[in-house]
Amino acid sequence: MAIDTLPHANGVIGAVVPRIDGPLKTTGTARYAVDHDFPGLVHAVAVQSTIGKGRIRSLDTSAAEAAPGVLLVLHHGNLHGAYRLFPHVQEGTISEARPPFDDDKIYYWGQYIALVVAETLEQARAGAAAIRVEYDAETPDVRTDLSEGFTGQRESSWRRGDPDKALATAPIVVDETYSTPTETHNPMEMHGTVAVWQGDRVTLYECSQGVVNHRMVMAQVLGIPVENVRVVSRFIGSGFGGKLFPWPQSTLAAVAARQLNRPVKLSVDRRMMFTGVGHRPRTQQRIRLGATPDGKLTAIRHDFYTETSINDDFVEHCGEQTPFLYSCPNLEVSTAMVRRNVGAPAPMRGPGAVPGLFALESAMDELAIKLNMDPLELRLKNDAERDEGTNKPFSSRHLKECYLTGAEKIGWKQRTPQVGSMKRDGKVIGWGLAGASWAAARIPCTATVELTTRGRVAVRCATQDIGTGTYTIFAQVMQARTGVSMDRIDVFLGDTSLPEGPTSGGSMATSAVLPAATNAVNQAVDRLLHIATLVSDSPFKGAKAESLALSEGRIHAKDRPASSGVAFEDVLRMANLSGITGEGKTNPSWEDPKAREYSLHSFGAHFAEVEWEPEIARIRVSRIFSIFDCGRIINKGAGANQILGAAVMGVGMALFEETVHDPRTGQPINGSFADYLVATSADLPDLDVTFLDYPDYIVNEYGARGIGEIGMAGVAPAITAAVYHATGVRVRNLPIRIEDLLQSKIREA
Ligand code: MOS
Repeated sequence: MAIDTLPHANGVIGAVVPRIDGPLKTTGTARYAVDHDFPGLVHAVAVQSTIGKGRIRSLDTSAAEAAPGVLLVLHHGNLHGAYRLFPHVQEGTISEARPPFDDDKIYYWGQYIALVVAETLEQARAGAAAIRVEYDAETPDVRTDLSEGFTGQRESSWRRGDPDKALATAPIVVDETYSTPTETHNPMEMHGTVAVWQGDRVTLYECSQGVVNHRMVMAQVLGIPVENVRVVSRFIGSGFGGKLFPWPQSTLAAVAARQLNRPVKLSVDRRMMFTGVGHRPRTQQRIRLGATPDGKLTAIRHDFYTETSINDDFVEHCGEQTPFLYSCPNLEVSTAMVRRNVGAPAPMRGPGAVPGLFALESAMDELAIKLNMDPLELRLKNDAERDEGTNKPFSSRHLKECYLTGAEKIGWKQRTPQVGSMKRDGKVIGWGLAGASWAAARIPCTATVELTTRGRVAVRCATQDIGTGTYTIFAQVMQARTGVSMDRIDVFLGDTSLPEGPTSGGSMATSAVLPAATNAVNQAVDRLLHIATLVSDSPFKGAKAESLALSEGRIHAKDRPASSGVAFEDVLRMANLSGITGEGKTNPSWEDPKAREYSLHSFGAHFAEVEWEPEIARIRVSRIFSIFDCGRIINKGAGANQILGAAVMGVGMALFEETVHDPRTGQPINGSFADYLVATSADLPDLDVTFLDYPDYIVNEYGARGIGEIGMAGVAPAITAAVYHATGVRVRNLPIRIEDLLQSKIREA
């Protein structure tokens, strides 16, 4: 494939292209998982444990079973046909490896302990409320200091030089510990499953960021062949990592539906979103930086704790970016996984990088202050020319330009470094910055493209659009290659009956689907042009296929305009074809010898401004400039949406978000939208996104690396740096609290 084979004249690649699925969503036509309804469908409601640790002593289901409309009550005493999957041994990734209701043990508050299925949702709820449980309760371990009680093994993941020696002799040292709290995913759409069996085959209507993985996992969990499982996830009300891998509600819905031989719907409610469907785990990170007096880094140590559940090994890889973000000869990154009585964690936008860069970039800001140096100058001085972790060149890195562009935009030259020294409209102003990075890869994908006699282009792939614009990306590629207008392009995604596609995760879907979609459409077009030379009625009979082209949906001689040609569907009809199909494939970057020679990463920087009103102790984030180097942006509209949304999540992380577990019971006590604060429109600063748009042809021929996760990395440390600049208060434990800000010595603006 070469991008040069795509007619760029129509400019569809790289443009602002409105989402083709937008009208379906704004009119309520798009069907999400639990919107699916079937004759005979029944409703399931899960019962959750009200202790955080212990065992079920007794479970009395008699009242529930006798309640009107109740069809089935499942619990650890009677559930069969939910098998275990061993992560890293068997294929497929599951969020919680312990099957639901596996035994009478309770590992976290909110663990599912029973399921009630009834004719109506109300009857199922009433049945669930009628279940009586007695527990042998123990005090759960939800201690927030992750160093407490840690008895496991700390693992060193990166090491070069001698960081301890370098730290011992460094003239300037920063040694601080930073923490980030448990954060709960709050997508618009809550998790849910509709399970429909036909004989020994099941269809699961899911909200899944990866239907192919979901199918593989559920085949093993349900003990049936993979070809007997179909997973459909056509529209997703956002995922952010919480929907990457199956959760127990999928298993429970499928098992109950099999037993009843009726379609079962099981929806997780907003309160349950805080327990059994993942979260970003708490982290605690000690950063040590050594530097020369003129600001050259001599040592970095990044030693962190990451919280996980009792049964699942989840690591928030806080140190992924540390080995290559800066040039530094001596470095170590180490990880300690700490178990607590909480549900299984999950990836959440920018997993690892987001909390990891909060710590590293905060420490860099503190180092700049110690050095009496501009934090921008410190970044530029220590920028890495190559990846010193893997000792490979970067495929494309323009981080310095991100910093310089952001500095220009905010007017960094006017910044005065003294705390509280900048004022505007009766408020103190603070400015801070931080860098960001995220890994890129080209993950495998297949797709088919069909040109039909109805004059339409259909593209099919079992990846999914989690709200980020994947439908539109496919349509853009089709339009670029065929010139067929958007209203004649059909994109089919989110169904395992389609050709295998990638999980929408790691911000890697776009870079994966582009080559497969392009190869598929190229093959379909090549076949079409060849057939045009073979059909007796065709005006191109006997011509050389290479002399023909397809543009504006018309086959024509390459040296003549499209208007001189014939609509492709007419040629298909002449050939007595219902359509012509092409297949395409994306080979993974790790099997590409050229790509393997490079470190593949995106980069970016955020510049944040806060306004501080000392008289009333109010802080507001007023402006964020985000400058990103993510390769070529395929859809500048959807791309900018990604960075904007991520910046909003970053504001939430800095100012509001924390899931608090009651130390007595392990219950998330702020598990609702009334109590768990997220950034709303009223909290938002002016957001300004710039893409540098340097194509990275190592990742794919479009030069697109992928966006999304990276946009959240660096927001929180840019904000806390700005808060320090305005108030003199250094917040190392997120979120920023009013109690922190009351320590400010800046008393008036
Ligand atoms: Mo992303 S955390 O891989 O959805």
